[in-house]
Amino acid sequence: IPSLHEALAGQFKYGIGAALEPFELEGQHGELLKKHFNTVVAGNVMKPDYLQKQEGIFTFERADAIVEFAKANGMSVRGHTLVWHSQTPDWFFKDPEGKEMVGETDPVKRQANKELLLKRMETHIKTVVEHFGTDVYAYDVVNEVISDSSGLRSSKWYQICGVDYIKEAFRYARKYAPEGTLLYINDYNTHSPRKAQDLYNLVKELLADGVPVDGVGHQTHIRIDSPSLKQITDSIEMFGKLGLDNQITELDVSVYSNDTDKYETVPEELLLQQGYRYGELMQEFIRLKPYISSVIFWGMADDNTWLKNFPIARLDLPLLFDEQLQSKPAFWAIVDPSRLP
Ligand code: G3I
Repeated sequence: IPSLHEALAGQFKYGIGAALEPFELEGQHGELLKKHFNTVVAGNVMKPDYLQKQEGIFTFERADAIVEFAKANGMSVRGHTLVWHSQTPDWFFKDPEGKEMVGETDPVKRQANKELLLKRMETHIKTVVEHFGTDVYAYDVVNEVISDSSGLRSSKWYQICGVDYIKEAFRYARKYAPEGTLLYINDYNTHSPRKAQDLYNLVKELLADGVPVDGVGHQTHIRIDSPSLKQITDSIEMFGKLGLDNQITELDVSVYSNDTDKYETVPEELLLQQGYRYGELMQEFIRLKPYISSVIFWGMADDNTWLKNFPIARLDLPLLFDEQLQSKPAFWAIVDPSRLP
């Protein structure tokens, strides 16, 4: 079968990628990866919880295995993620006495806590970006900072530091990463007009403040029937017209249209419908390519996808290759639509 990234050669400056776990570097998974993708991202092992589980003790072995594989096979690496509310050890948010910083009412202590948290963030960012150097060409500097209801997410980061944690994260990344490293603000549901608008407002504020943001990462965890192509297009053009790059960072298409359905086996016609959606989507990304520099799938094949556990435990088949690593209609819809009925 043809290679996915070869079929899309020349379309996206930084290539076609997949998220992976270190075990997927081996055997058939490793072969699939080499054949179809030319850029990779760690699904978990570059998150704070993996890199600095205990304060001051950095463990890079698992992340390095991915970087070494990528280098040996001519693939680039995205870094995911420097600052996030999830998969971040609790010690980040405790004061020197071991007390939760969130909820502190004494203004003097609040200020000291903020300074300490920003210091920890600086150390984390500095150590990570200096470790990877030019082997990582781009980072999700902050992940999921927009609220699901309105404005900024009220994470521990936000409650302790306000919007400054976002600004400082980008400044530290720019200060310590090699020149030319691309810096992204990454989020999900960015194709929802309300969330896109809140993200847009934030990004405009950041740019006005001279904060070094290069682009927006759209996770693009979408469903078989939503959001519409128009919403996706609008949200990409909106940031593109601001002069920012866009990357599709975590693409997958759930076969479900709600949180409750559950298939024992996914009907063939649904996999075909998913294929047409993927095909249409990739055509649109190609049309928008002045604004989009990379498209990355959140996983290689349906045997390993986070959607098996979210929003409930159920069979979901959201990627281009099936559980036996064979190509699905979704693959052919992108690579050679004439192969579809
Ligand atoms: O490491 C343990 C392992 O030791 C244990 O055996 C296993 C049993 O469940 O759990 C393992 O940890 C899991 C980890 O994935 C590695 O597989 C965690 O429980 C599980 O919560 C974690 O889920 C990850 C999730 O982020 C956590 O927020 C998913 O794999 C990962 O795909 C997902 O990725 C996120 C992006 O970072 C941000 N955008 C959304 C995306 C999907 O949620």
